[in-house]
Amino acid sequence: MTPDNIQSLQHEQRLFSPPAAKRAHIPDMATYEEHYRRADQDPEGYWADRAKELLSWSKPWDKVMDCDFNIPKINWFVNGQLNVSYNCLDRHVENGLGDKTAIIWQGEPEEDVRHISYRELLTDVVRFANILKKLGVGRGDRVALYMPMVPELAVAMLACTRIGATHSIVFAGFSAASLMNRIQDCEAKVLVTADAVLRAGKKIPLKGNVDDALAECPTVTSCVVLKRAGIDINMVEGRDLWWHDVVADPNIAPTCPCEPMDSEDLLFILYTSGSTGKPKGVMHSTGGYLTYAAHSTQLVFNLHDDDIHFCTADIGWITGHTYIVYGPLALGVTSVMFEGVPSYPDPSRFWHLVEKFRITSFYTAPTAIRALMRDGAEWTSKNDLSSLRVLGSVGEPINPEAWMWYHENIGKSKLPVVDTWWQTETGGILISALPFATPLKPGSATRPLPGVHARIVDAEGNPTAANEGGHLIIERPWPGMLRGVFGDPERFKQQYFDRFPGKYEAGDGARQDEDGYFWIMGRLDDVINVSGHRLGTAEIESALVSHPAVAEAAVVGMPHEIKGQAIYAYVTLRADADESDELIKALRNHVRKEIGPLASPEVIQFTVGLPKTRSGKIMRRVLRKITTGSTALEDFGDTSTLADPSVIQDLIAGRHT
Ligand code: WT7
Repeated sequence: MTPDNIQSLQHEQRLFSPPAAKRAHIPDMATYEEHYRRADQDPEGYWADRAKELLSWSKPWDKVMDCDFNIPKINWFVNGQLNVSYNCLDRHVENGLGDKTAIIWQGEPEEDVRHISYRELLTDVVRFANILKKLGVGRGDRVALYMPMVPELAVAMLACTRIGATHSIVFAGFSAASLMNRIQDCEAKVLVTADAVLRAGKKIPLKGNVDDALAECPTVTSCVVLKRAGIDINMVEGRDLWWHDVVADPNIAPTCPCEPMDSEDLLFILYTSGSTGKPKGVMHSTGGYLTYAAHSTQLVFNLHDDDIHFCTADIGWITGHTYIVYGPLALGVTSVMFEGVPSYPDPSRFWHLVEKFRITSFYTAPTAIRALMRDGAEWTSKNDLSSLRVLGSVGEPINPEAWMWYHENIGKSKLPVVDTWWQTETGGILISALPFATPLKPGSATRPLPGVHARIVDAEGNPTAANEGGHLIIERPWPGMLRGVFGDPERFKQQYFDRFPGKYEAGDGARQDEDGYFWIMGRLDDVINVSGHRLGTAEIESALVSHPAVAEAAVVGMPHEIKGQAIYAYVTLRADADESDELIKALRNHVRKEIGPLASPEVIQFTVGLPKTRSGKIMRRVLRKITTGSTALEDFGDTSTLADPSVIQDLIAGRHT
């Protein structure tokens, strides 16, 4: 083993057989292996079949793929043409599904519910597409969307795709400065926004941020504002227009042709912050992205025509793009869109919605599961969850303990939990169990989807032995992958293709066990080096979370005279547990017993909250700063993506020196 590799100390042994299903797209491992082999040996044939089965193309492609990671050059379905709005709406209406519900929208207030049919959604999209055109938006122009989780967001996205404009969604929790940077970078012509966001019973103003941002964004000539909360806002004459006014214009044509787009035309840009540097504008294309979105949604959630799919992410993240809007709508299934939060008005909100809408597949993040775990399992038994078939997780490694809690309390010990590994850059899920085929190991994303060549390599790019940690790379192109970093081809190459020439570098540490299962060990930037042993964060955190008193944990390295680095652990307790010195000792022993003395934390600090990004990921970068004694907010680098900056002060106050 080269010293650069990450060491694994975890030994999770539980194994669960997948339940049998009457209608599974991939019913068993033999079928999975068959798909995998086909995609491996005949990738062009496999992806051509998938693209034809899942989508309608207005012009067939000349060549399935033309890719070379050494350049890098990535082209899928070369010269093929299609339109995303047509694929997500028109063709379903033409096929007699006009009355079927496309989106069930649950607003933050319980009584705000809409069942929007494919026909209604199409009507709204056509109208808004014509409005965008009237505002001067055409093929290739960028439109920025800064909106709450309301149906109008999906309408605006699909309207862009209809006329060949590129959308760039900025999560509504971002600040004026973040919005400004993203609009400036992509030079958007139009911004669509709302007066405010409704969140946990409060109205959080948006339009003020918009005014601040747009003061420095000369490319934006119009701003369409949806009235969501009904608060007083400032409307700028000549620039700002109310959504309800523009859609009421009697001169808007009732039809709008779908622009035939080249498969490689830019569908959307989505900025991802990463831990350093300015946000990268991740570019996704039309044909490859939509194929991969439909493909992965269908297989991972085992979706059929009558399914009701609920992905709890915000559409401001890639998870919402792919698994609320594009994947489900391309398949013609019903997608649930939820404006609220899991804990308001009480921690049974998700489960109440499962019962109310008879949801069949449910997809959320470990951060939500751990928060609900902390509130106690009693909140999970108040509702009828019998409609559920598949549970999913995404965003961070799911600790085996959280996986078990999800499986037992929500899945009633019957449902498969699919832990899905992917990134903004990958467009869709790359590594995941298939719910009715893959034997499950809590905490493992299991195996790559057909057509995905994931490997673990050491610092020199050589394959690692079983259970040896290393760099997660993808060896071959897949249709849903990013096509570039907007305006920065050099960064695209350097970030993903330079370190391991000819391969895509994910930036995550991982190991593959003796069964070929993948275990993600955390971002490589977060690795801790204890006495020359490189330890990933995920295993140590999972060991802490497996103690009955712990709800959530984050570990970082702290400088240590002898060991080089020692482990500093931030621990949030479950609602029914109390802080004490005995508990600190017990937790140290627990980690020692679970994974070994090397991983036993030097310091344990109890905290009521952890610094998280607005998408729920723990920001270990900020914790490292706190650990080493920083107290000034300026020291923490870019904290604009931090969900609740006030936790920093609490953490500093509780720091152990
Ligand atoms: C990073 C990508 C994918 C959509 C949401 C996040 C981490 C994501 C898992 C998982 C372990 C995971 C990785 C990855 N991650 N899913 N199932 N197990 N880690 O998208 O913001 O681009 O983040 O999230 O570190 O690189 P993103």
